Parts: sequence; structure tokens; C-alpha cells
Amino acid sequence: MADELEPANPETEATEAEEPIKRRKNGLYPGVSDELAENMKSGWADTELHGLEPIAQAAETAARRAALSARFPGERLVIPSGNLRTRSNDTEYPFRASVEYAYLTGNQTEDGVLVLEPVAGGHEATIYLLPRSDRENGEFWLSGQGELWVGRRHSLTESETLYGIPAADVRELTDRLREATGPVRVVRGYDAGVEAALTDKVTGERDEELRVFLSEARLVKDAFEIGELQKAVDSTVRGFEDVVRVLDKAEATSERYIEGTFFLRARVEGNDVGYGSICAAGPHVTTLHWVRNDGPVRAGDLLLLDAGVETHTYYTADVTRTLPVNGTYSAIQKKIYDAVYDSQEAGIAAVRPGGKYRDFHDAAQHVLAERLVEWGLVEGPVERVLELGLQRRWTLHGTGHMLGMDVHDCAAARVESYVDGTLEPGMVLTVEPGLYFQADDLSVPEEYRGIGVRIEDDILVTEDGNLNLSAGLPRRSDEVEVWMASLKG
Ligand code: GLY
Ligand code: MN
Ligand code: MN
Repeated sequence: MADELEPANPETEATEAEEPIKRRKNGLYPGVSDELAENMKSGWADTELHGLEPIAQAAETAARRAALSARFPGERLVIPSGNLRTRSNDTEYPFRASVEYAYLTGNQTEDGVLVLEPVAGGHEATIYLLPRSDRENGEFWLSGQGELWVGRRHSLTESETLYGIPAADVRELTDRLREATGPVRVVRGYDAGVEAALTDKVTGERDEELRVFLSEARLVKDAFEIGELQKAVDSTVRGFEDVVRVLDKAEATSERYIEGTFFLRARVEGNDVGYGSICAAGPHVTTLHWVRNDGPVRAGDLLLLDAGVETHTYYTADVTRTLPVNGTYSAIQKKIYDAVYDSQEAGIAAVRPGGKYRDFHDAAQHVLAERLVEWGLVEGPVERVLELGLQRRWTLHGTGHMLGMDVHDCAAARVESYVDGTLEPGMVLTVEPGLYFQADDLSVPEEYRGIGVRIEDDILVTEDGNLNLSAGLPRRSDEVEVWMASLKG
């Protein structure tokens, strides 16, 4: 108390008043003394990496850029990676580069932009990136995106070696784009700054053609991509095994234990999960995209686990198994499960080169409609049910989709290239029929209610048929039971 009554010490006041002025007078270093700013500039080792090897897929990304170049001769093509998105204040969501950019470069950093400049005979590619943080102006420790905060970036020279593309400072890009003349296209939706720089040079229609081309280019996977998808599936198989091993812990807690268990495998072996894991137990099995995962796991119920590991190169698996929590299907669970299994078998058998994409869906739906008629749940004949689509009350969704860097891959492809198209070797798709009887569905006998089954596998179209990439997980009901028993041991 006494201190508050003391007259202010003029010497102390002067010192405290001076300090902020001194700190502010250097505009580059707000709140930092000149001495510290000077000190932070020096005393750092040269950490440039030498002897780097190109990324494993450098030849494939070059071939993809060549295909893009051939499709749009004479035009400047701009493919951004995207920017960080704020989660709250100064924290950001985990970053995932745009698939178009990652597909064409193999790079995954935020704020990157690939530009293909038209030149005689084709295009010259440049990858625009944020270089290493400048120590001279202090950004490496004073900026939120400085390397001291977010980690070391590759130098432009290192990036050139890794990606096999000349690299330039992305901070110069928007000026260059504003000044550029001639036709330009940009992949929209990822980088507002880049789009703003091009706003009077591009049209939505032309940009959409670029997006569609890059989606359709990904319909047929090259050997590198197939290898990555197999890796994703193999990690996913291990993730499913992890889950079966801890079902007792899930019973003691909730579906979250399953989500967390699978996520651990995804983060340790891959980049992430390829989509929010669906860990649906009990009546949640009938909710197609149940990702809240906050319900109980009970013996006697089913667990529908739809999950996929995404590799470090962004390729994801998409696998579903519907498992009896206690290790043994009840009679009604098995009846429904086996119908879905038969449907999936018919669907997988219809995946072959030269066949129509729609064939596997039609084959799978036919089996499900047959069973629904046989069980007396809908009035036949089967052809009438299929014509009117009456089975869809319980089958709910399409039987599959393309799979790759996106779980629902190639989504911008035209109908004629995808849904109305023809299967080719190198395509990878899911086959995932299901039957779902909602808990409140009064149109079916009570014993069906609250039961849902989906079985989903990742199928590669080969030269002479198909290969089930996820065959490492059993599918037949008796084999599932044996497999679960062996893991729960
Ligand atoms: N996991 C989403 C799907 O199966 O399509
Ligand atoms: Mn799927
Ligand atoms: Mn799925």
C-alpha cells in the first residue's frame, strides 16, 4: 500500500517510457530490441541438404504434366496447392494439398502453385513455393509461418531436385500472373489470392474443363499409384486387426475407442485416415455416414467399421467390414450378412476390362432384390422391384465408386467417362453393397430392425478380370468368425 502512495520515481518512469519507443522504432521487429534482432541474424549453420534424390514418383508426375500440356497447348495453366484454413485464432486445420497439385507435382506444401507456361512445342513447368525463411529480416522467428515455428522447409534448390521441376519464390507469382498475357486457366477453389490475380483473364467454363481433365486423367492408375493403393489397403487391414483386438476395451468405453485405435494405425503408417472413420455399433450400423462415433459397443450387436488409411502420398483405402461384437453372428445377422456377401460376390465378378462401369452395381442390386423378395419384404417379381427401384428402401446407396487420392475419386469426371463409361485395366473401384433395416422401419418384421450390413472391398481392374486389393481381410461370415477368434485369442 505504501508503494502506491510514493511519488513516482522519475528515473524509473523515464526508463519504462523509453523502452517501448526503442522497441518500436525498428519497424521490422515490433517488440524486439535492436540488439536481439541483430543477434538472431547470425550464428546459424548452413543446413542446405545436398545429395537429395528425386521423389519416387517423379517420372510419373512428369508424364502427367506432359499429358496435361498436350491437352491445352498454348495456354498458361495454374494449379494451386491451397492455403491453410484457420480453425480458431492462430491455429489451423491440418493441411492437405489439392489433389490436382499433388498429382502433378508430388509436392504437398501449402501455398504452392504449379504453373505451366506455354512455350514452343509444349509447356515449361515452374513450381512456386515459399523458400526457406530469411534470417536477415527475422521472418524465420518473428512470422507465424517462420521455420522456427512451423519447421524447416525445403529450399527452392532442394525442391527442384526432389520434384524435378524448376522452383521459384511464390511471393513473386501474383505479380507475374497479373502481368501475364495470353489464355490462362486455373484450378479454382484452393487459392483465393491466385484467383484474384487472374480474375479478368479466366472464365468459369474454361477452368471447369481443366478441372474435368485432371479428374478424368486420374481414372486409370499408373503402377506407382496401384502400389500406393495396395500399401493403403495393407495398412488398413492391420488397422482392422487392431480394432478386433481391442473390442473388449471398446465395450468398456464407446465407439470412440475404435476410431482412436484405427487412427493410431493411420497416423503411424500413413498420413491420416482418408475420410472420417465410420465406427457404427448397434443400431448406428444403419446410418450410412455415422462419424459421431459416440455410442456404446455391446456384445450381441454388430459393428460396421468403414475406414481407410491414407498413405503419405495421399492414396486411400476404403474398406468396410460388419463384424459381430462378440465374435459370432446371430441367425438373423448371418442371414442378412450372407445376402450382402452374395451380392458383393456378384458385383466383384462383374468387374472386368471392357465391361460397363454400371454392371457391378446392377449385378449386386439384383441379388439383393432377389433376397428381399424371397424374404417376403417386398412383392415380386424381382424385375418389377428393380424396375421401380423398390429395393432401395433398404439398399440406400450406389454399389461403389472410383478410389484413389480422394475416397470418392475422379468426382469431376463427366458421366460418359465414369458412370456411363467402360472399365479399363488400372481403374480401382470399391464394391460395397449393403442392406440396412432402420430401427424404426415398421415395414419389416421386428427381428430385422436395427440391423445393417455393408461389405466393401477395393478392386483393381486387371488385363483379364480383377484383383481384390483388400483380400487380406476375410469376407465370408464363417471366415470372419474364425479370423476374429484368432485375433481375440
Ligand atoms: N466411406 C465412404 C464410402 O464408402 O463411400
Ligand atoms: Mn466407399
Ligand atoms: Mn467406405
